[in-house]
Amino acid sequence: MLSEPSTVKSLSKLAKDSLSSIYQERELNAIIFILFEHYLGFSKKDCISRSDDLIDINYTQKIKYAIQKLQYHIPVQYIIGKANFYDLDFYVDKNVLIPRMETEELVNWIIKDINSQKKTKNQLNIIDIGTGSGCISITLKKTLDFVDVTAVDVSEMALKVAKRNADFHNTKIKFINHNILFDKLKLYSEKFDIIVSNPPYIEEKDKPIISKNVLKFEPHLALFVPDYDPLVFYKSIIDFSLVNLKKGGKLYFEINEKFGTEIKKILKEKGLYNIILRKDLNEKDRMVSAEL
Ligand SMILES: C[S@@+](CC[C@H](N)C(=O)[O-])C[C@H]1O[C@@H](n2cnc3c(N)ncnc32)[C@H](O)[C@@H]1O
Repeated sequence: MLSEPSTVKSLSKLAKDSLSSIYQERELNAIIFILFEHYLGFSKKDCISRSDDLIDINYTQKIKYAIQKLQYHIPVQYIIGKANFYDLDFYVDKNVLIPRMETEELVNWIIKDINSQKKTKNQLNIIDIGTGSGCISITLKKTLDFVDVTAVDVSEMALKVAKRNADFHNTKIKFINHNILFDKLKLYSEKFDIIVSNPPYIEEKDKPIISKNVLKFEPHLALFVPDYDPLVFYKSIIDFSLVNLKKGGKLYFEINEKFGTEIKKILKEKGLYNIILRKDLNEKDRMVSAEL
C-alpha cells in the first residue's frame, strides 16, 4: 500500500474514510488542509488545483502515518508539532495546551485596549500567569514591541516550550517558574500595568464530556480544577493583582462560560471596578477585564 502512488485526492479520501467516525466534516476538512500545508506546503488553492498530482513517496508515507496517529485521537497540532495563534506559529507538544481561538480573542481585546489608550508609546509592564506555550506573552510582545512581558508557569516543561517559542519569534520575555497558588503575594520589585491569565478552569466532574483528544493528550495540569473550588486560580490571581497591579492597571481573564457572574462578583467584592464580561464569537461568556 505504501508503494502505491498517492495524490492529494486519494490521501484526502483515505483520511475521510479513516477519520470520519472521529471528527465532524468541517473539522476533518480543516485537519486535512493542515496536513497538506505542513507536509507539502500546499495552500487550499493548491489542494484543489493540484488534486491529481502524484505526491513523493516520502511525503505520502508521512501523511499516511499522521492519519494513523489521528485515528488514536492524537491532536493534529501535536502530530505536526505546531499550532497557529493570531497568525503566528507556535511549537507545541504534550507539555502545553494547544492555543485556542477564544484566547486569540482575549489577546486581540488587550491589543485593542492598549492601542486605544493615549499612553500607548510608554513602557507597559505585562505579566502572563500560566503561560503554557507562551502564546499570549509572545503575541503581545511581537505585536506591541514597547511592552515588557513576564511569563509565569508552574511547569518547567511548559516553560521550556515557551522559551523555545520566544527564541523562534525573536522576542525577549522574562520567564519565571512559580506556583501562583502557593505564593500569591509580592513576587517582583516592580508593579504591572496589565495582568493576564488563561488559567485552568474545567471542573473535574466535566471530564466525561470532554472530547477524547483533549482528555487523553492535553496536559491535565493546564485544564482541570477541583470541583470543590473551581475558581481557585481566579481568587489567587485577583489577590495577586491587589498587591502587584499598579493603580489604574488592568486585569484580563479568560474564563469558563459557567462562571462569568461569579467571577464578576468576586472582582467587585475585592474592590476592582470597571468590570467587563465579554462573549466570544460563539456567544459564550469567555473573557473578563477589571481595573484596580
Ligand atoms: C489553560 S493553560 C493556558 C496556557 C496558555 N496561556 C494558553 O492560553 O494557551 C493554563 C496554564 O497554567 C499553568 N498552571 C497550572 N497550575 C499553575 C500554578 N499553580 N501556577 C502557575 N501556573 C500554573 C499550566 O501549566 C498551563 O500552562
